[in-house]
Formats: sequence, structure tokens, C-alpha cells
Amino acid sequence: VPQLSCRVVLQYGVRGSRLCHTTRARVSRMKLAHGVTLLPTFMPVATQAAIKGLTPQQVEGLGITLILNNTYHLNLRPGIKVLREVGGAHQLQGWNHNLLTDSGGFQLVSLSKFTKITEEGALFASPFTGEPTMLTPEESISIQHAIGADIIMQLDDVVSSLTVGPRVGEAMRRSVRWLDRCIDFHDKSGRNKAQNLFAIVQGGLDSSLRDECLDEMIKRRKKVAGYAIGGLSGGEEKGIISQCAEKLPADKPRYSMGIGFAEDLLVCVALGVDMADCVFPTRTARFGVALTFKGPLNLKLGKHAKDLNPIDPTCPCPTCSNGVSRAILHHTATHETAAAHAITLHNLTFQARVMGQARDAIMKGTFPTYLRGFFENYFGDAG
Ligand code: GUN
Ligand code: ZN
Repeated sequence: VPQLSCRVVLQYGVRGSRLCHTTRARVSRMKLAHGVTLLPTFMPVATQAAIKGLTPQQVEGLGITLILNNTYHLNLRPGIKVLREVGGAHQLQGWNHNLLTDSGGFQLVSLSKFTKITEEGALFASPFTGEPTMLTPEESISIQHAIGADIIMQLDDVVSSLTVGPRVGEAMRRSVRWLDRCIDFHDKSGRNKAQNLFAIVQGGLDSSLRDECLDEMIKRRKKVAGYAIGGLSGGEEKGIISQCAEKLPADKPRYSMGIGFAEDLLVCVALGVDMADCVFPTRTARFGVALTFKGPLNLKLGKHAKDLNPIDPTCPCPTCSNGVSRAILHHTATHETAAAHAITLHNLTFQARVMGQARDAIMKGTFPTYLRGFFENYFGDAG
């Protein structure tokens, strides 16, 4: 077991951590200002400072200790004035565990049609007033300071994983320059003891650009608490994740952004990834899809209309353990918010169980066997 140590408040204890013999999977403890989170972990997305349909108490009740908020959304509403006055996003949402904020760049590019990237920052039209608004690296960090998350992300220049040509290299090199501006601003702010800045590796699907980015960002390892692998949503990317996770320093957490299918999570874990987030489990719940170890279950299908079984009889979630049936979820899935909440509780429990089982298997030295069993069940036709 390597001595995993991180700058400032991020630290890995040797007790309770372990490396897999066969794969690069590892279990570690990430200590932040709001407690310890066991890695690898899946982070549910609470875009607007709330996981849609759930109270913070419910999220806590599922054993979840790290969630994600978005800088872009919280800056628009309630805005940094309110955030500063209430003392940050933990207080705003009544969440006493760990919190991570994404920096805003990715949401700008995916949500605003008019975003223009310049060296200074990302220029976009305010969705409320239409006025041109600039998000710079410094401003992103400043907003993330007002939000007060335990982990904050650098502003990066994100291109779709389908983009090819010179724009990919340009965005990667700009992300490195913006990382330096984020580090500078963060270091001078006095917030760098309480909040941990992560770098985001870019470079599209081009392995030589990824390599260049890795080299540059690893040079800054004393100044960052962890590393994310960005720019992956929408493409086939396991080779890039493997390349990045292999090269990134072993003593820092590795976070693959926007990954959420159970099968992808487990492959990422095997490649040495420690953290991942995605809206998928919560979003798909609102469309009536429950996640199970036999694959996703579309509760809207007629075959569930008379099925009085729970989604998964072995599931400890409040929905399954209280005997909520597939039949009532089928009947209400598309028009009762309570059904969406019930499936959301189940799906987040499923994600947590997958990661928890992976951690247990890594600790016991049986992770490769666990993986094989998971894939047989998940893609078999037993369900
Ligand atoms: N979320 C998913 N992918 C990305 C990315 O590349 N950058 C940021 N900042 N957020 C993301
Ligand atoms: Zn359940």
C-alpha cells in the first residue's frame, strides 16, 4: 500500500486503504473539512443545491457523504451575495457532509448557445437579462469560495469529445494556463486551507495531447489537491481514462467527470479512478427507470403493471425495504412526483451499493472476481 498523502486537508490513511493486485483499483480515505469519504465513490449531482426530489436528510440517510453542486447555477441563483450572507452552500442546503463544486465552464458550453471562449474567460449571454457576462478563472474560483465547497474545480476550456482539429489542443493548452490563474488566485485568497483545488486534464481523444496536458499539470502537483479527467462525456474514452489514471500521481485523488453508468464506473475503478459524478441515476429515475444488478428496469413497461414485488428484494433502500411495488411505481411513474422520489432513492442506493461492493472486494482482494460476477449479472438475460 503506498503512502497516499495529499496537500492540506486531503489525506489518505494507510489503515483502511488497499490496492488491488490485478487491476489499478484502490480503496482510500479522503479526509475533507466535512468528514471522511471512502474512495472510490460516486457523487450524486445536486445542480441547484438540491438533489431533485430528496431532502438532505434523505441523502444522508443513504450513507452518501459527498455530493456535487454547480457554480454556474448557484451564481445565477441565489447568487454570491446570498451565498456569502448565509455562509455558503452547506448552510443554504442544510448539508453537513462533503461538497464539490464544478467550475462552470462545462455547464456554460452545454447550456448556453452563445458562449464564446477568449483567453480572458468564457463570454456568455446571461439567461435572465441576455447581457454579455464574462466568467474568468479568477471569478470562477471567487464564486466557488463564496459557495464554500470542500473541493473546487479549476475553470477549464471544454470541447466536446467529438471535436477534432486544432481546437482540441488550443482548449487543452488554455486549460493549463487557466489552471495557473486558478492556482494563483486560490493561493492568494487564504481559502486554500479549507478548500481543495482540483486540476482538470483535457486534450480530447488525442493521446499525445492528453500526455502533454498530464505533463504540464503534474508539474503543478504541489499546488493542486487532486486531478479530474475531463472532456469525456459523449465519447468512447476508456483508453484515455486508462492513460490519464496511470500517469496521474498515486497520492492524489482521481476524478472522472460525467461518468455514471455502473458498468463504466467499475471499469474506471479498475483503471485507478477514485471519484465520479453523473446526473444519470437521478435523471433516469424521473423517467421511470430503476437501476438494478440485472440491468436497468423500465418501470413504465406494461409487464410491471401487476408486479407486486419491489424493484430489488435485496435492496436496503427506503423504497424497496418498505415494500413499494413495481406495480404502483409503474402506475405512478410518469405523473406522480412521489414515484420519481422513490426511484431516485433507489437509484442512488444502487450507485452507492456498486461502489461499496467494489470497495469491499478490493479490500478482500477479490475485485477481479467481483467484476466478472457483476458483468455476468448485469448483461446476462436472467432479469
Ligand atoms: N463535467 C463533465 N465533463 C466536464 C469537463 O470536462 N469539465 C468540467 N469542468 N466539468 C465537466
Ligand atoms: Zn431499492
